[in-house]
Amino acid sequence: MPAEHNYDHERALWDTYAESTRGAVTDAEAVFRWTQYGDHGPGTELLGEPDSVLEIGCGTGRALAYLAQQGVKATGVDLSPVMVERTTERWGPLGVEFVCAEVVAHLESDPTTYDAIYSIFGAAWFADPARLFPLVAQRLNRGGVFVFSQPPAIPGAYGPQGMYKGGFAGPAMFTYRYSYTPEVWEDFLSDAGLHGAHVHVLAAPEPGHIGTLIGRAERR
Ligand SMILES: C[S@@+](CC[C@H](N)C(=O)[O-])C[C@H]1O[C@@H](n2cnc3c(N)ncnc32)[C@H](O)[C@@H]1O
Repeated sequence: MPAEHNYDHERALWDTYAESTRGAVTDAEAVFRWTQYGDHGPGTELLGEPDSVLEIGCGTGRALAYLAQQGVKATGVDLSPVMVERTTERWGPLGVEFVCAEVVAHLESDPTTYDAIYSIFGAAWFADPARLFPLVAQRLNRGGVFVFSQPPAIPGAYGPQGMYKGGFAGPAMFTYRYSYTPEVWEDFLSDAGLHGAHVHVLAAPEPGHIGTLIGRAERR
């Protein structure tokens, strides 16, 4: 059974997240990191040397702010109006453009193409890859790359993972995360028409801590 997204609910949930992380935007520094650990893992080199990027599920916008400071034309899309209002205020002066939209709907309707599209614990984790990845492939320039990072799947728990909002009483509001093995993620990338698909789990700095799944593929 496919997941049944309700984006009115998901928008409300992410607005709540945005409210709870107010300081994470207003006090954020422009920083680019793929993993949940400071000074760990690869950096912007995974993107090549793009002139233009799109971050999908850009949250605080701090990675886009970092790239904009390097002279990259930086655009972000995010479902949460609260987050987008805040990031536009914080990072708009650097030239970063933020669009408030659901990523699949946005890529379907906006024909703009980019040298790199990426997700850092963002929309590649929260949107169905069977729908999202072919659209990402269409919106990449030739030679462009798609890169995403997120927590690895919990062993044995694969596919859309439903999560209720805060407790099990009250209105049934829920969201989904998508989890697969690296091999299955590579199949999604290849099936979308992307090349050189490589997905792996980068170990955490401390043994036994949660690693980071990082995927990359390119459009030829
Ligand atoms: C964990 S946060 C992203 C973290 C981000 N890398 C940062 O540094 O803040 C996930 C973001 O994805 C957005 N999101 C979730 N589902 C989405 C969708 N279907 N389309 C667009 N954005 C989405 C949420 O609104 C949220 O801001």
